[in-house]
Amino acid sequence: MLDLLVKNASLPDGRTGMSVAVRGGLIVEVAPGLDAPAREVIDARGFLLSPPFVDAHFHMDACLSYGLPRVNESGTLLEGIALWGELKPLLTADALIERALAYCDWAVARGLLAIRSHVDTSDPSLLPVEALLEVQRRVGPYLDLQLVAFPQDGVLRAQGGLENLKRALDLGVDVVGGIPHFERTMLDGAASVRLLCELAAERGLPVDMHCDESDDPLSRHIETLAFETQRLGLQGRVNGSHCTSMHSMDNYYVSKLLPLIAGSGVSVVANPLINITLQGRHDTYPKRRGMTRVPELLAAGVNVAFGHDCVMDPWYGMGSGDMLEVAHMGLHVAQMTSQPGIRACFDAVTVNAAKVMHLQGYGLAAGCDASFVLLQARDAVEAIRLRANRLKVWRKGVLVAETPEVVARLRMEGRPESVDFSNQ
Ligand code: FE2
Repeated sequence: MLDLLVKNASLPDGRTGMSVAVRGGLIVEVAPGLDAPAREVIDARGFLLSPPFVDAHFHMDACLSYGLPRVNESGTLLEGIALWGELKPLLTADALIERALAYCDWAVARGLLAIRSHVDTSDPSLLPVEALLEVQRRVGPYLDLQLVAFPQDGVLRAQGGLENLKRALDLGVDVVGGIPHFERTMLDGAASVRLLCELAAERGLPVDMHCDESDDPLSRHIETLAFETQRLGLQGRVNGSHCTSMHSMDNYYVSKLLPLIAGSGVSVVANPLINITLQGRHDTYPKRRGMTRVPELLAAGVNVAFGHDCVMDPWYGMGSGDMLEVAHMGLHVAQMTSQPGIRACFDAVTVNAAKVMHLQGYGLAAGCDASFVLLQARDAVEAIRLRANRLKVWRKGVLVAETPEVVARLRMEGRPESVDFSNQ
């Protein structure tokens, strides 16, 4: 006897009429037209069943703090960092935990069941670190929260930066972070990449650095990160986040850089909502879009994911934990409007992001966790176009969120009673 049988589902790879059988929190079979006794049977009616959304780059210690203690007037990255500096002394663990838990509720409702969050380690109190470790414990039953030790003020630039970061790792933070472009000089930035990669190698940890989050075509810490990854044998464990300077780099240089990144097994996370908002701020016109070179990285064989980065915080006043909104912005900014391009953007918020986080048991196949989302859309392209409603969200075979089907009623003589936005 199965616990759950989802019938007549479409899958992101294009298969239709598929059944997914679940027992003991695991997927036991995925096959067309399967029929077997089950405690619960769900007819998906051709809607898309996807593995859960995954956000490979987020800042949960700052989320939902918009307006505290004031709003970011210029809307720039640097005012955001200054504003976060004003907010930090006012933070309390209880308020931070409450905001983070509220965001995790939003995430689950949106079918977002895994988040890699950076956590600021700059303050010697490590208040955000201890608070997010507590959140990690509490949300564990329904959401995978991975934490990155992030020295927001610069591991070399801030006094005690390295010590505080190491203490955060001692407390159980999962990943080594960094911010080389915020160190005082390019040389210091490169030195920070080297020492943080060595620290990760010593401790057997993954690396995820904010890398070159600027419009400076000469900011090339991604090159150092790829080189250090190879030198220390960290292939497959390292991610470069943002990498916006690649948008502005010389094309010849990029033709040399792409194979270096691919060869080192470094993945890249772009953050379309934030990159399009924060980059190009020193430009008049034309204004650069600032997002890294996503199609070119993918073509070079690099694993690329999209992150949400910020939701209602000192850097960004928008967002709701909707990774389809992130994918939607990503495909526009990267001009990935072909059908394969749009599907690649869906992968960037699902399977590719899961690869960045090294999630175990992720996917729609026998043996994987029975964690998936039923969307009010027929395929991945329609899901992004409509930022589709999440009808049902399961985590390891347990239903954790539901949203009723959205149907708009028309009140016009001679027209149908309801409007269907699908293109069937
Ligand atoms: Fe970030």
